[in-house]
Amino acid sequence: MSRIAVVPGSFDPVTLGHIDVIGRAAGIFDQLHVLVVHNPAKTALLPVAQRVSLIEKSIAESGFGGDIIVTSWSVGLLVDYCTEVGASVIVKGIRSQVDVAYETPMAIVNRDLAGVETIFMLPDPAHAHVSSSLVRQVAALGGDVAPYVPQAVATFLQKR
Ligand code: PNS
Repeated sequence: MSRIAVVPGSFDPVTLGHIDVIGRAAGIFDQLHVLVVHNPAKTALLPVAQRVSLIEKSIAESGFGGDIIVTSWSVGLLVDYCTEVGASVIVKGIRSQVDVAYETPMAIVNRDLAGVETIFMLPDPAHAHVSSSLVRQVAALGGDVAPYVPQAVATFLQKR
């Protein structure tokens, strides 16, 4: 039986921290779905289709092997998507205790709803301070985001 996992998130935009976790997870699972989910609690910078495209380009530039599918989900629960594609695991990157506190209730609810387990993965400490919100702020104020995002994202934000 193939092991299928989902890495969900807003990815607005995808950062080097996300890419690090995606690469690690791709090395563990037979198939990985990177899923852009609209989070109504957040005001988005980029349209969902743009976020998907930037993740695809970032994965291509990273040269990861493995079966990685990038797509989006806007109807229903995250676990509905997991059930649809046969994924039994959700993978989330954890940078700090703040992330643990944010992710834990969601992980428990997702297990209650559909028996989908969440695995917390530690990114490279070099990316522990990087977040999409930080990148959005630096970009909006004209700063250089290149140290925090894949080349494709840096180029896109520079042109924007
Ligand atoms: O990158 P984010 O914004 O922290 O990702 C959060 C996200 C989108 C993964 C989370 O909000 C989510 O899972 N939303 C889908 C709706 C859902 O299934 N909610 C119930 C279980 S928490």
